[in-house]
Amino acid sequence: MESTTNTGIISFLGAEQGPWKIASMQTLIGAPLPEASCLNIQQGAITPDHDSDAKWVLHGFISNLRYTHRSEKTMLDEHSKPLGRPEYNAAALIPIQKSKEWWNLAQDERRRIFEEDSKHIQQSAEFLTFISRQLHHSKDLGEGFDFLTWFEFSSEHTEQFDALCAILRKTEEWQYVTREIDIRLLKQ
Ligand code: HEM
Repeated sequence: MESTTNTGIISFLGAEQGPWKIASMQTLIGAPLPEASCLNIQQGAITPDHDSDAKWVLHGFISNLRYTHRSEKTMLDEHSKPLGRPEYNAAALIPIQKSKEWWNLAQDERRRIFEEDSKHIQQSAEFLTFISRQLHHSKDLGEGFDFLTWFEFSSEHTEQFDALCAILRKTEEWQYVTREIDIRLLKQ
């Protein structure tokens, strides 16, 4: 049994059963999460109780853009595909935390590192032809992560997705990442 508060919050539960099978869970930096077999995504702030099969739950919510300029937003809106495409049988949940140093910067300094230095949007944009994505914010919920990043794609494109992650992880932006777990999933 689980209790739910319906608040616009989305809950990601690592459990024994669920529509997404956890194919791998790689802790790149920081504390790991307990092993789980499957992932469930549910609307509402779910708090699993003692007889739930959940090993962990992460909460996030969809928010407004912080760093994206108008021209970038227009380009993203034109090229982004919605989640839930039947041919996208693979997914990645990558929870990320950034350092105090990052959060102590001013908004314009973070934007400069994110895009002018790291080219997060510029380098990622071409991947939108085969990746659907959704960013969830967690920091303001006081969770162990600041972001729950979610991606869906066809398993045929796993190598390309890995290549994008490798590009981003070499950027200056990633110098500020203090916790990152790369969770790969397959649709059951
Ligand atoms: C599929 C291609 C991708 C595109 C088009 C993309 C685009 C974006 C955009 C536009 C933002 C800024 C949102 C804002 O203005 O607030 C953003 C933020 C973010 N993205 Fe990506 N991204 C992609 C892939 C990835 C990947 C693979 C990862 C993780 C490995 C990632 C991690 C993040 C994180 C953590 C943030 C939040 C940054 C912050 O606010 O400090 N993105 N992304």
